[in-house]
Amino acid sequence: MTRLKVKEILKNGKAGNEVVAKGWVRTKRGSKNVNFIALNDGSTIHNLQVVVDVESFDEALIRDINTGAALAVTGVLAESAGSGQNIELVAKQIDLLGKADPDKFPIQAKRHTLEFLRENAHLRFRTSTFGAVFRLRHAIAFAIHKYFNEKGFNYLHTPIITASDAEGAGQMFRVSTLDPKNPPLNEDGSIDYSQDFFGRPTNLTVSGQLEGELGAMALGEIYTFGPTFRAENSNTTRHLAEFWMIEPEMAFYDLKDNMDLAEEFLKSCIKYVLDNCIDDLEFLAQRLEQEEKDKPQDQRSMPLIEKLQFVLNNDFIRITYTEAIEILKNSKPYKKNQFQFPVEWGIDLQSEHERYLVEKHFKCPVILTDYPKDIKAFYMKQNEDGKTVRAMDVLFPQIGEIIGGSQREENLEKLETRMNEMNIPTDEMWWYLDTRRFGSVVHSGFGLGFERFILFITGMGNIRDVIAFPRTPKNAEF
Ligand code: 4AD
Ligand code: MG
Repeated sequence: MTRLKVKEILKNGKAGNEVVAKGWVRTKRGSKNVNFIALNDGSTIHNLQVVVDVESFDEALIRDINTGAALAVTGVLAESAGSGQNIELVAKQIDLLGKADPDKFPIQAKRHTLEFLRENAHLRFRTSTFGAVFRLRHAIAFAIHKYFNEKGFNYLHTPIITASDAEGAGQMFRVSTLDPKNPPLNEDGSIDYSQDFFGRPTNLTVSGQLEGELGAMALGEIYTFGPTFRAENSNTTRHLAEFWMIEPEMAFYDLKDNMDLAEEFLKSCIKYVLDNCIDDLEFLAQRLEQEEKDKPQDQRSMPLIEKLQFVLNNDFIRITYTEAIEILKNSKPYKKNQFQFPVEWGIDLQSEHERYLVEKHFKCPVILTDYPKDIKAFYMKQNEDGKTVRAMDVLFPQIGEIIGGSQREENLEKLETRMNEMNIPTDEMWWYLDTRRFGSVVHSGFGLGFERFILFITGMGNIRDVIAFPRTPKNAEF
């Protein structure tokens, strides 16, 4: 007899069908005569109820059916009288595939804190919350590939090990095979990297963009989707040292085309999960409601599904950085000195400022453009005013910055001048500058932080809870 997934059984199973289900026990309850086992195999948020006539089974077997144990159950489907499900499995044969000692298995059938589950990240997939989060993570990744594939973009795999640190997006992790206790030295006492694996210093990449631009200058439209590494010491709920980024890069796109793409792209992924993952979203919506029920009304977030529909159905606000500074200077928290960080033209916006604009002022996602050149990367297209660049950041409620991007400077001379001003070695970057030497065109791109997007969609509050095994300062367990 073929094994069916729980999702399939709950969707298409008919009373009288004989099936085999395999999965892990979530709970066991019942009386002396009849037990009800909630069996979950990860295919859906829902459990299959297994009905066990205790008398017909070995006593030791029944005793070993505890939360966390793995079972194969053969039986006949029956209409369920209980609430919460239409169909249940009446067990004829139960094979205990793997025991779980109830005194030792840490994930019990009660509510655990997210902190506790983070310490048990190897087992947290066994909870309903993390099952939902990781099925959604998969679905969003799939929706991203689907979107770009249908638009004719090519998935480009840019390198993870890189010798350039020109992006300046963050501190880098060094990659080396030299013996840290006894590295080869130059005459002046510095480390002789010519003897290292690559014959030069190398790092883990902070972004695939620069290589992505090379691809876009021939393939037209590319995107990367891979791990990125930043060694900044930011212990926040929005930062990881290892995170995943999606970076589309498009020839012949200006800043407006770039904004249009970013908005359409985010909306299409949100639509995909609303159309395909509603069970998991409904579960997470309830979880969020539960978590926020003790907060005062004005501090609660919009119900999860309503929030997703709202973003899907409303145009993002598009304003310049300069306009944003004006709004912030006229805001109540600014006048009442409630912002922790200063507001002044030229400063980088902090997340409190971004969230004020999105959550309080516009109550809508916002795209900020034309930032001061001094707080942005060297490659951004310079505006005529000599002060700003054609940057764009997409700001989302609850998250703040979810996307950073820009039109790129395609003029060789202007680019070289800017690199010299910022002390970026133009000779090392010869390959990047070649694109501006041979057939240079207007082009643009952006980077979406994958985990920040998952935070938004799942309503989870900490970025450590939307990646399987988070890497953060002083934490690389598992
Ligand atoms: O704004 P960032 O630094 O932009 C770039 O890296 C550009 N090269 C992108 C491009 O134009 N192709 O990073 C892009 C996004 C941010 O908006 C944020 O969502 C996410 O990546 N991000 C992080 N996510 C988690 N942890 C961190 N430490 C992150 N740093 C950036
Ligand atoms: Mg940024």
